[in-house]
Amino acid sequence: MMSEKIQTLLEALPYISKFAGSIFVIKYGGAAMEEESLKKEFAKDVALLKYVGINPVIVHGGGPMIGRLLKDLQIPTRFVNGLRVTDEKTLEVAEMVLSGLVNKEIVKNINDMGGKAIGLSGKDGRLLMAKQVEDRDVGLVGEITSVDVAIIKDISRHGYIPVIAPIADGVDGKAYNINADTAAGSIAAALSAEKFILLTDVQGVMGADGKLISVLKRSEIEKLIDDNVVTGGMIPKVTCCTEALKGGVREAHVVDGRTPHAILLEVFTDSGIGTEITGD
Ligand SMILES: Nc1ncnc2c1ncn2[C@@H]1O[C@H](COP(=O)(O)OP(=O)(O)O)[C@@H](O)[C@H]1O
Ligand SMILES: [Mg+2]
Repeated sequence: MMSEKIQTLLEALPYISKFAGSIFVIKYGGAAMEEESLKKEFAKDVALLKYVGINPVIVHGGGPMIGRLLKDLQIPTRFVNGLRVTDEKTLEVAEMVLSGLVNKEIVKNINDMGGKAIGLSGKDGRLLMAKQVEDRDVGLVGEITSVDVAIIKDISRHGYIPVIAPIADGVDGKAYNINADTAAGSIAAALSAEKFILLTDVQGVMGADGKLISVLKRSEIEKLIDDNVVTGGMIPKVTCCTEALKGGVREAHVVDGRTPHAILLEVFTDSGIGTEITGD
């Protein structure tokens, strides 16, 4: 009888050899970024991916942390269609929290687990350029106009793990906060990543019956939004998966970040978890 441990390792082998050298863009957010034990497990997963030859690229959110500091500073805040309305003060707080506190904490956690992480924002190396979102009254919330992934490729090639805060330089000279899902999707597309994985606090994308959709076709997404089955914060997620797939990403996954080691389970086992979004 083979031990379970050996079986698990052997099950991972074909995936390790299949994915060695490829890029995975991971949108990090929700409980996996808030709970101490989950933070550590996430950092371990990321370090392990790098050690087996996969190039993880982390793009993180931080909405709740921004919200907390805004509250402490008594700056009022509101959302339109899942996007935070951002005036200049809010943007300053968002940039401080995202590029400073949150980004460096993730970098530290990954480093503590033996990875070599480097924190960046969309401003570094002009990775992300943006303009003001046109169709909604959300202030300094940007929509990406260009992505230059040269810096990510350079860093990854030298053994580092890029950790990216979703702040961009505006073509008008202002700074913009970009929805982290959208930023991650654009970066995944520009890199033609092998996988684009979004961690969130639900099992995956739920259908009209409230049950998990295991496999979702790109062509089915618009109807889910039109029918109000996908709403709020799930809209930028499924939309950015569409964009990523159009840009050449092979597979997009929305997975439950509350499950410890969700990434390893998704990548290295035969039975994935969450919702896989396919390109057809
Ligand atoms: N069809 C759907 N399936 C799953 N979640 C959905 C759906 N429609 C709306 N949502 C909401 O989207 C939320 C995820 O988005 P969000 O709160 O922005 O999380 P994150 O912090 O991971 O970006 C879920 O918690 C859920 O309330
Ligand atoms: Mg969100």
